[in-house]
Amino acid sequence: MLNLKPILISGKEVLPLVEGGKGINASDGRSSGAWAHENCVGTFSGVSPDFYDEKGNVVAEIFTSKTRAERHQEMIDMAIKGGIAQAQVAHEISNGNGRIHMNMLWEMADSQAVLEGVLSKAKGLINGITCGAGMPYHLGELATKFGVYYYPIISSARAFNILWKRAYNRFTEFLGGVVYEDPWLAGGHNGLSNAENPEQPETPYNRIVELRRLMNSYGLQAIPIILAGGIWKLKDWEDYIDNPEIGNIAFQFGTRPMITKESPVSEAWKKVMLQVKKGDVILQRFSPTGFFSSAIKNTFLEKLIERKNGEIAYNEISDAEFTEPLVINEHKTVFIKSCDKEKAMNQINAGLSEIRETPDKTVVFMTPEDWKQMKEDRKNCVGCLSQCQFSTWSATSPTKSTGKIPDPRTYCIHKTLYEVGHGGSVKDHLLFAGHQVYRFATDPLYRNGCIPSVKELIDKIKNGD
Ligand SMILES: Cc1cc2nc3c(=O)[nH]c(=O)nc-3n(C[C@H](O)[C@H](O)[C@H](O)COP(=O)(O)O)c2cc1C
Ligand code: SF4
Repeated sequence: MLNLKPILISGKEVLPLVEGGKGINASDGRSSGAWAHENCVGTFSGVSPDFYDEKGNVVAEIFTSKTRAERHQEMIDMAIKGGIAQAQVAHEISNGNGRIHMNMLWEMADSQAVLEGVLSKAKGLINGITCGAGMPYHLGELATKFGVYYYPIISSARAFNILWKRAYNRFTEFLGGVVYEDPWLAGGHNGLSNAENPEQPETPYNRIVELRRLMNSYGLQAIPIILAGGIWKLKDWEDYIDNPEIGNIAFQFGTRPMITKESPVSEAWKKVMLQVKKGDVILQRFSPTGFFSSAIKNTFLEKLIERKNGEIAYNEISDAEFTEPLVINEHKTVFIKSCDKEKAMNQINAGLSEIRETPDKTVVFMTPEDWKQMKEDRKNCVGCLSQCQFSTWSATSPTKSTGKIPDPRTYCIHKTLYEVGHGGSVKDHLLFAGHQVYRFATDPLYRNGCIPSVKELIDKIKNGD
């Protein structure tokens, strides 16, 4: 048994164990309510959460408007309904125990409108807001307005320092904690900066001590650091507990709670995770947000990797280096290096006959079916992100465009996460996962495909297992 002492989170003494928020629909009212019920913290995702009709059936997120701006508004309205619905479900299941948090992707366009819409109608149901993927400068002000605690998700002391100096120092009352998410180990989007090497992971210890020193220098000794990313069993982290260099700490689990009875992800998705081997999770940069992210290598990811591997640099005019003409469509011929000619021909001969430009003066190759689907996905864009490399949508620009050409090396993240979060193919959609997911296969808790309840999982975690 570990010496896990309750700590103050969002105004209440709870166990220092947190379910990480996971969109779309990979953590919801059912899972977060179950975590709260065990006197821990549950986090439902505020990104396109499910809402229900009068019979209690999930209302599918179907967009009917013609323009992207209208579809975007439909998405926001549905997300607000969903956030309220999931907060109600979580609150009911929690039986008043623990704490319930809502997670928001800051890079989502109009994330503040969703938060405001949900918080104004779900008073008393949500105790805290966690926010990552981007720099949530306005989070402190917004949370304070509604009297809920806020939890920025950062991956370095440097990021917290910027947030603190620019905004949070004025909103200290409701700063509930700082989530340190290990950018090399965590599932979902990863906060690797340009200064950090994706190939060279750093141990979290020194980075957390640096964060704690910084927080202490601002008088934030009592504010917990919530450690996320790569946490499986707490026996591996015993030296972080009751350690004066680290101070108040809680542990956030993202991937592990996905295989519980209360987890909303499909049986097929759970089955994949039970079989993943070490090395099957890839840290890559295909997300249309531009961030790194970690996901299981499946057909979806393999296709993106293959496309990227087939990428070839081109020039508009021929010169000493770019000598070989490449016809990319009936109106355009570009020039590639002679050393790339064979690579281009091999792809065309293999059926990857659609040649598409990227914003980096390169071309990639894909099948006509994939190209057709890509056009369709762009046509159906609902403007979910503030900036999207896949569709070039930009919520903040007056032209509503990034001004770049759409990047065929990326994908529509809204479509794939929504579909896999609602029973879609686990081969053909993105499966975010942390780098410890391979441990499901050997952990005795899951022997013979056993799926524990949240209570059973938390009992094991409390034991250190
Ligand atoms: C499927 C999946 C979806 C996720 N979605 C989000 C998200 O929408 N917002 C967010 O802040 N973090 C998200 N995360 C990160 C988790 O909340 C958590 O911090 C992370 O998974 C911790 O690392 P671990 O997976 O090694 O436990 C996601 C993680 C996974 C595995
Ligand atoms: S194309 Fe981009 S902005 Fe549009 S819905 Fe998909 S991910 Fe969101």
